[in-house]
Amino acid sequence: TRPEPCSVVIFGATGDLTHRKLVPALYNLAVDGELPPGVKILGFARREKSDEEFRAGLEELNRKVSRSGHDEEVWSSFVQSIHYHRSEFTDAEGYQRLAERLDEIDRERGGKGNRLFYIASAPEFFDDILEHLKGAGLNQAKDGCWARVIVEKPFGTDLATAQRLNQVVNRTFEEKDTYRIDHYLGKETAQNLMVLRFANAIFEPLWNSNHIEQIQITCAENLGMEGGRGGYYDKSGALRDMVQNHLLQLLSLVAMEPPTDLSADGVRDEKVKVIRSLRQWDTPEKVARNVVRGQYTAGHVDGVSVPGYREEDRVDPESMTESYVALRLLIDTWRWSGVPFYIRMGKRLPKKATEISVHFKPAPGVLFNALPGGLPGSNVLVIRIQPDEGISLRMVSKIPGTSLRLEPVKMDFHYATSFGKSSPEAYERLLLDAMAGDATLFARRDEVEEAWKFIDHIEHAWHQAGDEAPAMTEFVAGSWGPKEADELLKQDGHEWRRL
Ligand code: BG6
Repeated sequence: TRPEPCSVVIFGATGDLTHRKLVPALYNLAVDGELPPGVKILGFARREKSDEEFRAGLEELNRKVSRSGHDEEVWSSFVQSIHYHRSEFTDAEGYQRLAERLDEIDRERGGKGNRLFYIASAPEFFDDILEHLKGAGLNQAKDGCWARVIVEKPFGTDLATAQRLNQVVNRTFEEKDTYRIDHYLGKETAQNLMVLRFANAIFEPLWNSNHIEQIQITCAENLGMEGGRGGYYDKSGALRDMVQNHLLQLLSLVAMEPPTDLSADGVRDEKVKVIRSLRQWDTPEKVARNVVRGQYTAGHVDGVSVPGYREEDRVDPESMTESYVALRLLIDTWRWSGVPFYIRMGKRLPKKATEISVHFKPAPGVLFNALPGGLPGSNVLVIRIQPDEGISLRMVSKIPGTSLRLEPVKMDFHYATSFGKSSPEAYERLLLDAMAGDATLFARRDEVEEAWKFIDHIEHAWHQAGDEAPAMTEFVAGSWGPKEADELLKQDGHEWRRL
């Protein structure tokens, strides 16, 4: 299916996401000639602004962030499709005016009235926006056209709020028209996980507990709480901000069974089984044994001195919110029985890097154990999600020379070398998919709820009063996390892969 002409209405149009990600993504699609003709963009927000002012702000950021540079000619024609719609999110009349405006745009487009509503406002308005869209009849598609909604994160803050939001969403839009966005699913390498696993014959036969010893997912960020982010983050924390969504999604792509087909439900049926099969850490003792939470203290990142988490702008000086989390996960299925999956995520680590590493069991050492140092490690398949997207395989090789000495070497595939041009940004792919009606790379209701179920147990344990609650650890900003996270793996005889 091809993306179809439509009106894209962005709620929260004056926000950071619209300026940094959404409009630059639409612009890049225009540069690449992928944006269907007749796409109109309508920014919906509360601030007083003219079309001109809105466009000028978007242009300023596009110049800074666009993947494909800022081409004056493309921009000047692209920007003509962008308009501003001022309204409170809670004002029914603003939605009536929106409906009239969309009808006008449809008439200009020759009667075609496809609508894509992108809810990127502050989360407290999600319900209002959905209800008012329904109130204005905008949730209904007319005359063979469609009306779809993309809902940004955070999709709830726990299971109860996610369920409530799902009720509102499903009361207003059909599930097939609902696109819960998780931008990690739009990353090129995340999409390539299924291709790597199921379009190559050599990996899948080994992809199980007979051959794999452990799997690690690392998501390191060097940024802290810049730009006033502390206000949101301190109420969320690493587990809710990144693990519930992005990292459990990556986990499900790594661990799922082959789907029956590539349809949205074919793929999501298999992904949700992974999340459902997670062993639950549902007591404070289990959480203490399998999950490490931490905060950074003042230190240096990239040679610059940075404050500790509790000293950050808009963070409570006595905050008990984790900026770092490491977990041991077990998936209770035939394929993965007994294989630990380790996930770690942290702000203010030494660099920005996300990768998945699959650690295979060592080869029998019979032939080489007698050598000094024995066998130097086992095979590791590394999938680099970002930056420097690629896949590498660690193997053992003979060092050239007259004696028998072994050393690990790497077979390495870099996207940049093999495919040249830069990969599209996640939001480009996901916006196009929504315009084409393909929900494969969006989270389904049950996936989101199952993930919250798992996360809620851990959050509950952390919020126990007094000594019952598992400890908060500390580590110096710019280091690789607390020693307790190293201990977590050491107990199983493993260690974190060095990035
Ligand atoms: C967002 C989180 O969802 O993802 C941020 O809220 C995080 O805290 C960001 O920094 C990371 O995205 P990316 O694409 O830069 O890895």
